[in-house]
Amino acid sequence: MRKRVGIIGAGPAGLLLSYLLSLEGIDSLVLESRSRAEVESTIRAGVLEQGTVDLLKKIGLGERMEREGAVHQGIELRFDGSGHRINFHELANGRGITLYAQHEVLKDLIAARLKQEEQPILFNVENVQIAEITSDQPHIHFQHEHEQKELECDFVAGCDGFHGVSRAVIPEQGHHIFSRSYPFGWLGILIQAPPSSKELIYSYHERGFALISTRSPTLQRMYIQCDPLDDIANWSDELILEELQARLESKDQWQLQVGPITQKGIVAMRSFVIEPMQHGRLFLAGDAAHIVPPTGAKGMNLAIADVRHLARAFARFYQQQQTDLLETYSTTCLRRVWRAEHFSWWMTSMLHRFPDDDAFQQRLQRAQLEYTVSSRAASTSLAENYVGLPFTW
Ligand code: PHB
Repeated sequence: MRKRVGIIGAGPAGLLLSYLLSLEGIDSLVLESRSRAEVESTIRAGVLEQGTVDLLKKIGLGERMEREGAVHQGIELRFDGSGHRINFHELANGRGITLYAQHEVLKDLIAARLKQEEQPILFNVENVQIAEITSDQPHIHFQHEHEQKELECDFVAGCDGFHGVSRAVIPEQGHHIFSRSYPFGWLGILIQAPPSSKELIYSYHERGFALISTRSPTLQRMYIQCDPLDDIANWSDELILEELQARLESKDQWQLQVGPITQKGIVAMRSFVIEPMQHGRLFLAGDAAHIVPPTGAKGMNLAIADVRHLARAFARFYQQQQTDLLETYSTTCLRRVWRAEHFSWWMTSMLHRFPDDDAFQQRLQRAQLEYTVSSRAASTSLAENYVGLPFTW
């Protein structure tokens, strides 16, 4: 089998890359270890930056997102029982965010890609091995439907997430890894209830951080900070709701809307970057190259920005025989990646309780929160980072 670009992973990065390449007339094949049903149902984040939304619309993938997604023009920061709105519309030149779950984006991408051509994505692929990545003709060995297969290509795009095989083929020498793990995780739930708020609420509380998000008028997403090693079995539905109530306490007439919890799980939080995001003819994109804690809602948006650059770089290579954009791919992406790394770390540090914090540390967090909500300059900084910097950043 031969394709110009072999893409490992059918997440937002891999699927969007294959779609963008197809628009440029460049053939590719996506190899995915999970089943289509699993890809289309795994619950992940759900915040799309303005630039992500604009891109999806421009390439004809915005129809269901516009119908079913919800545009938000701000968020609330809550502390000491009071809510403070950060008005994105006013502070970030009319830009906002759209709440639309990642797996819905993936469903749209898969459907659109399957319309473009036959068998552009192989699901349930096993034993993926990348070979000869520093030569001009890398190939990928894998098993599919119990048969051993080989894909020859010009380039490999590693879009297979943090635990994927792509990054593992990169030698330590010549690369740097930057990482930080946080001493807490998020316990996330899906709950069948009406929205508790028109916009997201990020709450700082002495019992720990809590977040109210949404998926639809009848399904809500909520999170509470917890021990990353805690067992979800220790958290009954009642306990989770009690904790949410306590951490979102408000002096106003606010009420948590409750109902049956249909899904719950704990995720660890970390920051991670590999530099450069390339080795020979292997180009990493999305979580394979960098991880952010979810507090800034940047993960999927960074993956999408990466592959926009990568698709352009491949188009320039095939259409104009120029390698300049491939050579600068990593540097171009890393500028935005580090901005998002900082923003996510900053939001995380400001809003969570740390096990080793003391009264001094907590006063600093309050001072930062007070400043963020009362200074126009500080709230503008939060707003422009949250809605996302322009693609050219
Ligand atoms: C979500 O809706 O899943 C979500 C929202 C905001 C975040 C993280 C996750 O910061």
